[in-house]
Order: sequence, then C-alpha cells, then structure tokens
Amino acid sequence: MNSPLLSHLAEKMAQRHEQHRIRQLITRDGAQDVLVRVAGETLINFSSNDYLNLANHPLVKEAAVASVQREGLGAGASHLISGHSTTHAALEVALAEFLDAPQVMVFSSGYLANLALLTTLFEKPDLIVQDKLNHASLIDAARFSNAQHRRYRHLDVASLQQQLKGNFRIKAVVTDGVFSMDGDCANVAEYLALPELSQQPVIVDDAHGIGVMGKRGAGTCEALSHEFRERLIVMGTLGKALGAAGAFVAGSTDLIAALQQFARPYIYTTALAPAVAAGATAAIRCLMRETGWVAQLHDNIAYFKRCAAQADLSLLPSNSAIQPLLVGGESECMALAKGLWQNGFWVGAIRPPTVAAGACRLRITITREHSRAQIERLVSAIAAQMSNVSVE
Ligand SMILES: Cc1ncc(COP(=O)(O)O)c(C=O)c1O
Repeated sequence: MNSPLLSHLAEKMAQRHEQHRIRQLITRDGAQDVLVRVAGETLINFSSNDYLNLANHPLVKEAAVASVQREGLGAGASHLISGHSTTHAALEVALAEFLDAPQVMVFSSGYLANLALLTTLFEKPDLIVQDKLNHASLIDAARFSNAQHRRYRHLDVASLQQQLKGNFRIKAVVTDGVFSMDGDCANVAEYLALPELSQQPVIVDDAHGIGVMGKRGAGTCEALSHEFRERLIVMGTLGKALGAAGAFVAGSTDLIAALQQFARPYIYTTALAPAVAAGATAAIRCLMRETGWVAQLHDNIAYFKRCAAQADLSLLPSNSAIQPLLVGGESECMALAKGLWQNGFWVGAIRPPTVAAGACRLRITITREHSRAQIERLVSAIAAQMSNVSVE
C-alpha cells in the first residue's frame, strides 16, 4: 500500500481486529420500538435508550408530521441567522416548564451541547474537574477547552475534593447524572454542598436521567431546581427517553444569554430540524400529562432486577434503566451478545475504548413497554448463555 494514510489506517484496523474490538453497524428496518426488525427478523430490543417508548409514539409522530406540513423539513440556517422557529421556541418553553428552570436553549446534539459548555464557559485560569466515567463527549469537550482538566475517581467525593485543590478563577465540577455505561447516579446535592465549591458551578449531563429519574422524570436534579439560579447547569438530550434527537442546556438566564453569544457549537451549526423539535415538545407534554409513566418504567426495572437476582446474575448496582452485566473480556462478551441475538434478543455488548479493558459488559436497557414475559425470557436466555460461555 503506497498511501501513508491508508497504510496507517490499515495498521489501526488490524490492531482493532486482533483485540476483538471491531464494531459492526447493524441496520434496523423500521421503527425504534420494543420489537425491532433487522434483516427480516424480529428481535426483542433491550439495547435502546428510548426508555419511555416515545420514539414511535403516535402523538410524537403526529406532531412531527404536522410540523413538516407547516414549515417543511430543514431549519435552513443556524439559530442566530434565520433557523430558529416558533417550534424551537415552544420546545425551549416546554423544557423550562418541565425542568422548572429559568431558561433553556436547544442544541443540535448532546455532543455539541457538552462541547459548547466546556469550551465556552472555561478558559486558561479555570479548572474543570470531572468523574473518570463521564461520557466521552465531556472528556473530549474538556480536552478542547483551554482550562486545566482533572479527573476524580468514579463517584468518590474524597478524590473530587483532592482534585479541587489549588488556585483557579473558576472551579467547575462536571458529572454525568446517570452514568451511560454503568447506570449508577451521581449525588449532585452532595457536590453542591461541598465547601470547596461554594459559589462554583456544577454541570450535570443528564442524558440518561431525563425521563427516568425523579418522580416526574425531570431527571437527577429534579429536586434541585432552585440551584439553577446560580450554580447548577444541566445538559440533557432529546434523543433518549424523549424519543427525538438533539439536546438542551438549562440554567440561569444570564448563562443562556452568554452561551447564545459565545458558544461556537451553537452558533456555527444548522438548527435542529423543526419537526424533531415539535416531536420532542409533544414527548415532554405527554410525559407531563402521563404521571404514571416513570413509575411504570421503574416497575419494569425492579422486576428485571428481581428476575436477575433469582437467576444469580450479578448486575452492577443501578437503579436506572441501564442495567449492566459485567462480563470481562471482549470475546466472551461478544459470544454472549451473539447467543442472545440468535435467541431473538438485541442487547448491546460494550467493549473498550468505551469501557476499560477487562470491563466488557452487556448493557441491558429496560423500557416502559417491555412486558414481564419479555423480561423473564431475556433473563432465562442470559442465564442459559452464561452457562455456555466461560465468564471471568
Ligand atoms: C451521557 C451522554 N452524554 C451525551 C451524549 C451525546 O448526546 P447526543 O447523542 O445527542 O450527541 C450521550 C449519548 O449519545 C450520552 O450518553
């Protein structure tokens, strides 16, 4: 091979193959739902972040279709040029109401929202301290920011306090609300109460907490909305429990005003398609009306955990919709996921670099509309597969 680029890539690919870490793109045919179609087969889906089954909900689809009829498909420009429509504005109002936040702004994706937060708000004299297991978008965002960047041991307050030492203009703590590959939760109230952090910002990526945590599904920070006025900043995505796509940042009006002025990942990208904003607004309105949905999801989560305990499956500790089963090595994890697939279940196999070496896992996600029978069948299938595959 003569091209230096292609030979460099070929080397990297060969290494990925050797490590059993090659990822495969699976093409779904039709809607994201409890039952999904892939290559003519129907699978029970335990791999989706559509925790409330809103992606294919009739009211959400109807709102998106009505928006297309009214205003076409694309936003046509970035928000500050001419892309911001009444549909985006209505979404921001619905989110602010739902979260009880002073103000909300919408982003085209969670990756961009995180990038916007950490690169816009913090500069050289500042310190960003984040949990070791934060989502990759936060790690990347801190790297792209000019601030100093440190990481503390997962959920370890003493380690966080240690990392906060030193003189900086601003010291910001950044954490996932619900950790995307582990399913456990940060104790945000405890972080806000740390003396080292009085007056300092706490940023929570609640991509997997919105629609799932809190009594109303308003997320990990549901009970902390009074903190929005000064210190709390919440990023959430619209593409998970809310069944749409895109993301938002909630915070004080001054914070949002500054982000609109200075956040390059907001300014230099096309606004979210209005139809997606309309669908997300309908999803939020549904969730605000359907007060039993969050409890139904948690009933399913608790039922799955009970069945898993009876079958002696040792799950990682999690009260969220993400229920990981630690496997260990790449090939065992892939063999388990493949065996489940052959039995009609789609479960994500998570390998490095998403998780640490030796910590490969099945990432089982529970949704509101899974039936008890489907959950029981999944647990039996996992138990049967585990006895075929030697797991560390
Ligand atoms: C915790 C977390 N933050 C941020 C993101 C990025 O969001 P988006 O998919 O909207 O870019 C994701 C997932 O994609 C996530 O799991």
